[in-house]
Amino acid sequence: MKRLFYIILLVVISSLRVEAQNPGWIVPDDQKAKICLVKFTPDMLKQGEALYMKNCQSCHGIPTKKNFAAISPTPGDLSEPKVGTQKDGELFFRITTGKAPMPEFRNILTEDERWSVISFLRSFHKGYFQPDPEKMAGSIGKRIKLAMTYDTVKKKIMIKAIELTKEGPQPAKGAEIIVFVQRYFGNMQLTDTKRTSENGFAGFDWPQDLPGDKNGNVILGARVNDPAGKMQEAVVKDTLAIGVPTNKPALTDTRAMWSTRDKAPVWMILTYTLAVIVVWYFIIFIILSVLDMRKIKQA
Ligand code: HEC
Repeated sequence: MKRLFYIILLVVISSLRVEAQNPGWIVPDDQKAKICLVKFTPDMLKQGEALYMKNCQSCHGIPTKKNFAAISPTPGDLSEPKVGTQKDGELFFRITTGKAPMPEFRNILTEDERWSVISFLRSFHKGYFQPDPEKMAGSIGKRIKLAMTYDTVKKKIMIKAIELTKEGPQPAKGAEIIVFVQRYFGNMQLTDTKRTSENGFAGFDWPQDLPGDKNGNVILGARVNDPAGKMQEAVVKDTLAIGVPTNKPALTDTRAMWSTRDKAPVWMILTYTLAVIVVWYFIIFIILSVLDMRKIKQA
């Protein structure tokens, strides 16, 4: 009886722990109101289907087939009414933020890609009507597109921010821009953030001594910094041959701690070998001593 009690207690505690790691997936009201700013098209749906098969099918299975993974919490079939009745903004928020074991797709799928996955899911939701982007404009924040060029005279990375409005594209002024350089371990932010000028441009000084690959290529990215979520995320990425050409060996070509076994640093191999020899020396010494003791005893 007492054992049963302890087992139940253990189960309750462990489920509480899981709950603590997964606080409710509450969608803030302003995120619920978010909608896709373009009408879903058959092309989007097709792209969404491909992205779904690559990123979601392993857990959620094929919609309507109920062949989702048997894990806890259950991923469920995303064609179900329980998903169909949620607002676009809710689905968008859940895909963007994820909830363990579901990964967050913020940095895996672009905003447009997340919407195309939603357009695919919507094709299974009976009675769904896409909210009209025209009518909702204004309540959903700004949609910004970025373009990146390099000004060889001023030696600046130029970012142009364009706001897509109902009246057509217009320069987005006052958008805070972050430019980053892709490095081995994550992105390195280049200088401070800058705000775009009246005509939608922000210029970032390019350090002339930054190493690139052997052709001087560096991968650069830029995004709008907008923690309040008032503007839709916009990201550009580009490879520009503006770094100092460097014949850097690949990460596993040199001897280093993180490299493969045959590329371990020499000092590590020596220390390790020495340690092994010392340990074996003592083991053999002890065995020989024991044998000696037995001989003495027998004598
Ligand atoms: C590693 C497995 C995994 C992957 C991959 C995954 N999900 Fe999930 N997803 C889950 C789990 C588990 C839940 C349930 C979480 C919960 O309710 O606590 C979930 C929940 C959801 C929900 C909310 C469902 C509801 O009932 O409200 C949506 C929407 C969703 N996932 C969409 C996606 C999309 C779209 C993708 C691919 C871009 C994806 N998921 C990829 C595991 C996954």
